[in-house]
Amino acid sequence: MLDTMRAVDEEFATDVLAGLGSSQKTLPCRWLYDERGSQLFEEITDLPEYYPTRTETKILETCRGAIAAAAGPGATLVEYGSGASVKTRLLLDTLDDLNCYVPIDVSAEFLAETASQLQNDYPDLSIVSVVGDFLSPIAVPDEAQGSGRTIGFFPGSTIGNLSNNEISEFFGRARRDLGDGSSFVLGADLKKDVSRLIPAYDDAAGVTAAFNLNILKRINRELDGTFALDRFSHEARWNEDASRVEMHLVSQIDQTVSIGNEKIGFEQGETIHTENSRKFALEELVQLAESEGWTMSKVWMDEEKLFSVTMLDAA
Ligand code: SAH
Ligand code: AVI
Repeated sequence: MLDTMRAVDEEFATDVLAGLGSSQKTLPCRWLYDERGSQLFEEITDLPEYYPTRTETKILETCRGAIAAAAGPGATLVEYGSGASVKTRLLLDTLDDLNCYVPIDVSAEFLAETASQLQNDYPDLSIVSVVGDFLSPIAVPDEAQGSGRTIGFFPGSTIGNLSNNEISEFFGRARRDLGDGSSFVLGADLKKDVSRLIPAYDDAAGVTAAFNLNILKRINRELDGTFALDRFSHEARWNEDASRVEMHLVSQIDQTVSIGNEKIGFEQGETIHTENSRKFALEELVQLAESEGWTMSKVWMDEEKLFSVTMLDAA
């Protein structure tokens, strides 16, 4: 466990120094999720401006019967970026005689708390949690294997936080890890008017700003950083060419920040790019999945076509 923690710290330090050393300063978005980051994300899901969670929940409420019918009895459910596993409960309540639930997440403490709450609420459910990066190889643990089908679940449009290359690698690896006969349930946010998007990523209560700034707090705490949080502000920016909302942290003044022994200079107005949240055309997603061995079998959307839930089958 200590070795694992040291490896994670080293990876964090390497990513932060490399990201803040590049000309457009950047940080990989998975580092947004320490325990506090995961709690703040849960607060985001309840914001009036943040439509994705409640829209996806409504879609899942209508399609979960069809997902359960396709999964059949005794399935193993593998969830990527499970967070608080809230929407998952809709599937846990519906799938027939589930063999095992395998939540995968990088946010270790939050995952442990979530798994323990789930175990209390579903005492007969077998839960095998995996702390890890879903962009690295993660095999379904032996103790989670059953005789039913394996169903991958990737809700929340977390796929939109990945680059095209990462999406292709992810789909290819999931196809190999989940195996022949598996299916995959994917939640993805769709292209829409920018006037709907920006408030969703820059809410009036400032929760998304706190979520973004929390990564600087994490650097201060874990890497001996000296970021003054009031010298950076949150910005949500629409990038039309890449069809994505970008989160940035904008330096309010010229300043120098230390991280351990390293010094990082910022000019006033210079930004750290912390996250992309891509908004898809359905055909783009299907093409990315189909070129990595998946076939689209069903798709569900809300009436306004804000969000999609797609069922993919191993081709
Ligand atoms: N699935 C939940 C949570 C989405 S938030 C929902 O739909 O509401 C994104 C989740 O993915 C967080 O819990 C975060 O910790 C996790 N995550 C982000 N990048 C990850 C990565 N590279 N590997 C594993 N988990 C990751
Ligand atoms: C987890 N992920 C899909 C969220 C999103 O909408 O991109 C993270 C988030 N960032 C800001 N608000 C929510």
